[in-house]
Amino acid sequence: MAAKLSPKMQSALIWGLYALGLFPALWTFWLGVQNQLGADPVKAFEHTLGVWTIRFLVLTLLVTPLRDFNLFNGLRYRRALGLLAFYYAVMHFLTYAVLDQTLALNAIVADVLKRPFITFGMLGLTLLIPLAVTSNSWSIKRLGSRWNLLHKLIYPAAALAALHYSMATKVLGTQQMLYIALLILLLAYRILRPQVLQAKKARRLQGAR
Ligand code: HEM
Repeated sequence: MAAKLSPKMQSALIWGLYALGLFPALWTFWLGVQNQLGADPVKAFEHTLGVWTIRFLVLTLLVTPLRDFNLFNGLRYRRALGLLAFYYAVMHFLTYAVLDQTLALNAIVADVLKRPFITFGMLGLTLLIPLAVTSNSWSIKRLGSRWNLLHKLIYPAAALAALHYSMATKVLGTQQMLYIALLILLLAYRILRPQVLQAKKARRLQGAR
């Protein structure tokens, strides 16, 4: 059975998660300021922020299967994980737009329109915006069942992120393959989930007899 935490403890854990989650961005920025990010610090920073976006997307998508299989109930952390994925995606985009492209709007628009991997990244980020904006309790109450429907956008957003990541380099590295495989597995689980829940229910009913 999951330990019951006081609301104060829960909120402290969630704030701790935000602090811990944002630490890699601050640390990498600090390394950049100290000139310790190698020959191309902008690319290194962009890369780190992109990889952390993927990591937080994976963690966000992991919450439901871990709960379904009674391994860990992380529902109370899902909002923070999703928002961290969004914050990293925004920082990744801003690094590209400000430091890489020096805010040259024409070049950015041309890149988004002409380079499919940038198009997919941009679409992924765009889909995350309504999720981040409606991640608060007020929107959950206000939107009712439409909130659940809207938040299914996380699946195409994750698929686009995987596509973007797989096309970002000419040769796939081990880390890239690992995260892409995880995203594919987590997305495939959503298709199989109704059967998993049905089997779980049948087992529960059998146990109750
Ligand atoms: C959900 C949104 C996004 C995710 C998860 C994501 C993730 C990533 C990751 C993991 C990489 C690293 C690839 C590597 O070096 O191994 C990357 C690279 C890159 N991303 Fe994104 N990205 C997203 C959105 C965007 C957007 C909106 C843009 C710009 C419009 C963008 C531009 C780039 C660029 C230019 C690179 C290549 C950096 C290089 O040349 O090494 N990304 N992205």
